Amino acid sequence: MEVPCVRAPREDGEAARRELAAADLIDGDFEIVVEDGWLYLPVTDPAAVPGEFDVVDHDVPARETQTLPADQLGFEPSYERLGEAAILDEDDPDRAREIAAALVESDLPVTTVLNKASKVKGQQRVRDWEVLAGDGTEVIHREYGSEFLLDLAEVYFSPRLATERHRVVEQVRAGEHAFDMFAGVGPFAVPMARRGAEVVAVDVNERAIEYLRENARRNDVAGRITAIHGDVRAVAPEWSGWADRVVMNLPHSADEFLDVAVSLAGEECVLHYYDIQHEDDPFGPGTEVIRAAAGEAYEVEVLTERVVRSYAPHELNVCLDVQLTRR
Ligand SMILES: C[S@@+](CC[C@H](N)C(=O)[O-])C[C@H]1O[C@@H](n2cnc3c(N)ncnc32)[C@H](O)[C@@H]1O
Repeated sequence: MEVPCVRAPREDGEAARRELAAADLIDGDFEIVVEDGWLYLPVTDPAAVPGEFDVVDHDVPARETQTLPADQLGFEPSYERLGEAAILDEDDPDRAREIAAALVESDLPVTTVLNKASKVKGQQRVRDWEVLAGDGTEVIHREYGSEFLLDLAEVYFSPRLATERHRVVEQVRAGEHAFDMFAGVGPFAVPMARRGAEVVAVDVNERAIEYLRENARRNDVAGRITAIHGDVRAVAPEWSGWADRVVMNLPHSADEFLDVAVSLAGEECVLHYYDIQHEDDPFGPGTEVIRAAAGEAYEVEVLTERVVRSYAPHELNVCLDVQLTRR
């Protein structure tokens, strides 16, 4: 489409663009184009262009614009995406509502906006939410080719751990026995089964286990996952000595369950032990309690010391991958 443009030699183009932008004269509805060594900068008001510039009519394409929340708000809001939901952590209710409206009205595929209304609480690690937009708290999340349905108000879930889960899942071999002691809706269990492992997944939260069964179906691995609702301490005796791999993602109190993890271990077993520790010694305490739990029964070799993320000032969420070999 022919529109008025400032024509500038290509080498002077950036200086011209900056000057025209400062005068708010760039027409953002059209693309800036380069042709034959000239830059064509579409302008909104040719009469207002300073006399030093050459204004011509030129054919330039219309710009495909995407409206983002910041365009409406005038600042970059902070949020996490989980499927079609955006998750906020805002204390100020007016600001939260303003961000929610901008997110929904933007061109982002966001239909639900949830604000954190409490910390994660209790044994089931679930938090309260304020629904600022959308129908509720159930979402569909996709992670490394797996799909998860979950209700944030009923189960624990964090998309921030996706990379870490993938790191663990990539170690899994077809046919191995993997036991997920604190399985949630299955973000370790489902992809481990997709790699061909036989998986036992336990959670004390009944709704999490219902979602895990649904997620196993959605990802075509229901035949390789045994999902059990219950306290893993009560469930474990049936699976004594069964596991080639044990996942312990309950970072605040996994140490209290190390005796259970060791009872599950077969002749050789890899343990993925999640912990929260001070940055001065993030791996020492975990290594010590694992060695104590293994006692004389197993040789302990630390395979990986991994910082997953910062948890709080000076506190780190870490993972120890540990090989247990029966003596
Ligand atoms: C931090 S969440 C991790 C969930 C999942 N692994 C994930 O990455 O999303 C810990 C889970 O352990 C479950 N849990 C806590 N204590 C338990 C126990 N004694 N036995 C079985 N599950 C337990 C909670 O209900 C919660 O779903």
